[in-house]
Amino acid sequence: VLTALQYVSAIDVPLKAPLSWDEASEKARNFVSQLKLSEKIGLATGSYGSPPFLPCVGTLAPIERLNYSGLCMSDGPNGVNRADGVSVFASGITVAATWDRRLMHERGLALGEEFRMKGIHVLLGPSTGPMGRHPRGGRNWEGFGPDPYLAGVAMSESVSGIVANGVQTSSKHYIGNEQETQRVPSTRDDGTVIEAISANIDDRTLHELYLWPFANAIRAGTSSVMCAYSRLNQTYSCANSEILKAILKDELAFPGYVVSDWGATHSTVNFAEAGLDLEMPGNVTGSGIPCYFGDELLEAVQANNVSTKRLDDMATRVMTPYFRLNQDMDFPAMDPATGPTFLVTQFGHGSPLARAYAEVPALDVRADHARGIRELGAAGTVLLKNVNGALPLTNETSFALFGNGLPDPTIGSAFVPPRAEDVPEGFEMGALDIGGGSGSMRHTNLVSPLEAIRNKVNALGGRVQLLLDNNEIAAGRFSTIYPTPQVCLLFLKAYASEGTDRPDLNLQWNATMAVESTAALCPNTIVVTHGPGVVLMPWANNENVTAILAAHYPGEEIGNSITDVLWGTVEPSGRLPYSIPMEESDAGPPILILPENTTNPSAWTEDFVEGQMIDYRYFDASPGQEPLYEFGFGLSYTEFEMGESLNARLVVDSLNRYANKSMGIEPGGLVDLWTNVAVVTVNITNSGHRAGAAVPQVYVSLPQDTTPQGTPVKVLRGFSKLYLQPGETQQAKWELMRRDLSYWDVEEREWVIPRGSIYLSSGFSSADLRANTMITNG
Ligand code: NOJ
Repeated sequence: VLTALQYVSAIDVPLKAPLSWDEASEKARNFVSQLKLSEKIGLATGSYGSPPFLPCVGTLAPIERLNYSGLCMSDGPNGVNRADGVSVFASGITVAATWDRRLMHERGLALGEEFRMKGIHVLLGPSTGPMGRHPRGGRNWEGFGPDPYLAGVAMSESVSGIVANGVQTSSKHYIGNEQETQRVPSTRDDGTVIEAISANIDDRTLHELYLWPFANAIRAGTSSVMCAYSRLNQTYSCANSEILKAILKDELAFPGYVVSDWGATHSTVNFAEAGLDLEMPGNVTGSGIPCYFGDELLEAVQANNVSTKRLDDMATRVMTPYFRLNQDMDFPAMDPATGPTFLVTQFGHGSPLARAYAEVPALDVRADHARGIRELGAAGTVLLKNVNGALPLTNETSFALFGNGLPDPTIGSAFVPPRAEDVPEGFEMGALDIGGGSGSMRHTNLVSPLEAIRNKVNALGGRVQLLLDNNEIAAGRFSTIYPTPQVCLLFLKAYASEGTDRPDLNLQWNATMAVESTAALCPNTIVVTHGPGVVLMPWANNENVTAILAAHYPGEEIGNSITDVLWGTVEPSGRLPYSIPMEESDAGPPILILPENTTNPSAWTEDFVEGQMIDYRYFDASPGQEPLYEFGFGLSYTEFEMGESLNARLVVDSLNRYANKSMGIEPGGLVDLWTNVAVVTVNITNSGHRAGAAVPQVYVSLPQDTTPQGTPVKVLRGFSKLYLQPGETQQAKWELMRRDLSYWDVEEREWVIPRGSIYLSSGFSSADLRANTMITNG
């Protein structure tokens, strides 16, 4: 049941170990010292000095005399976008729902492998912005959810996996890019520019919530950080020296480069001086996106408005990860025809741009990655309800397969609309395994739930009856269904995409009525949702709904992953990486939406007044408000128990209030913040009759009386995934770092361990705490 399917590596030659940041910076400085001014500009500006037709969504021109290949950048977080012959991996939210470091890391390795084999130097991801302040945020699914600790671990494992295969990462979107609505400025008919949304975030919330997972990414070796389209505290993220210089480069000691989101640069000197190192897409003819670096940066440097020192720093930072990952030595050359195939897949057959390259079959880089995708898709599926022994399925033979989430999409292989503006509600008919926008992908292969389940039922000698049209289901037109099936599997979905926020939190296409009608027909209705995160489930307590599985966006093995879980070949070991509220009003602050005739250029301003109180931190701070299903929750097919005693012991002599600065600073910040200060243990037993995986979690409660107002009741600071045979007991063990016990003191501008008693609690979700203890800092 629990054999780990491994991704099988397609790279047989062991890669050279990465250089240290210092060695790489040294090489980069040396390289930059040999460059002409225009060549340096070409390192700070996309497509400066390269051919007009480009095979990558972001390109840096080569410098042939120095054997420098240039850089090819591609989206996105879940696989190689705008390409063929590639795997569609699970999306970030699914990855977070596994709570499984191994799977997170292996997915990173496999992603790195596909980008590398395509000759793509930079993967534009992973994403932890948005985190999900608004469950309606159109891009929440690309990231790892609203808890910074879980997202931080997922960022770290993703980055370390990708760079281990010699591919650069661009951790994004930095920072506070929580809504899609007005993420970029707009221009009124009279020429007035209405600025992009500004997220106004106080320094403590910024550090403890939104910045936290970026710190993990930097510590894990992210090559670049992509600054967001939006504004942070009234200044465009890519021109914000506070977050780029003071926080990212100084406080977190980030040695790589800051790249602008595509078109997020709005002027030259301000942006360069604030800390932006690379403008993208840069100097692309006909892109419609103005270029502010390129020739303008050249003039600014010549006029001394941007110093040569700063330009050298920009160029050095851009080159550092290239040398660090040995991309100068053994990186596969990208063949524009068989590599990203950007032009054909982006612009379509016969388009003038596509015709720039001959059409040849794309290089297929999928290797055996489908196995790992299948495993992760199942591991990221969360069992929310399971009564009357509904699951796992055993010897049932008569099935209804209902719902528009089942079949192959009727709109074809590259089926996810690249732009939500075109089809805001997504496509009606077909499996939804990934969201839309730049993080979406073309499907070289897709195993639909209909295909996988029908194969399984046929093999078991059973039968299926189909009804795919949600409107027919909702209207209860079941006259073709006879006899009443033993099990009704209802597949529903919710689409989300870059460029737009979700109109509401419901499953789409008449889904609520479809559940009610199915449940009225079928006393054993099992609902499977495919969606971007939070979806409302007003029918959850309907007694004929016997099981609910939240299957997120699992990637191309969507059908096999869910089949494995339904029949119990794989344990549903996923846990919610967010809370599901009963109603939208409990789902965090609403998206800011202003009228179209807004004339005040700075009107799009949102104060994050809730501070850290989003998701379970909000529920904890709001007595009497309960979620439907809480953060960290998920059922298994077996039962787990937790020992009564949670043990915590310090592994340092005493908890000093401040980090020890003499230990130095490394990428990720002060070294001492990352040192272990305490070890926490508790026993977990599988008390049921099947093997399964428990996900014990540990939460830290800093004292309210010795910290400033705004301290959350508790925060996640550790989790494990323990595979246990029936009757087996294992110890869960967590090492807490200094940062895990600290809060950000805005006056001292430091992480501080508060005086007084720090409570620790452990359990199987944020609301199911079974054991506790405390650490006293005298
Ligand atoms: C805009 C998106 O916000 C970003 O995530 C992506 O990497 C770039 N476009 C390039 O496609």
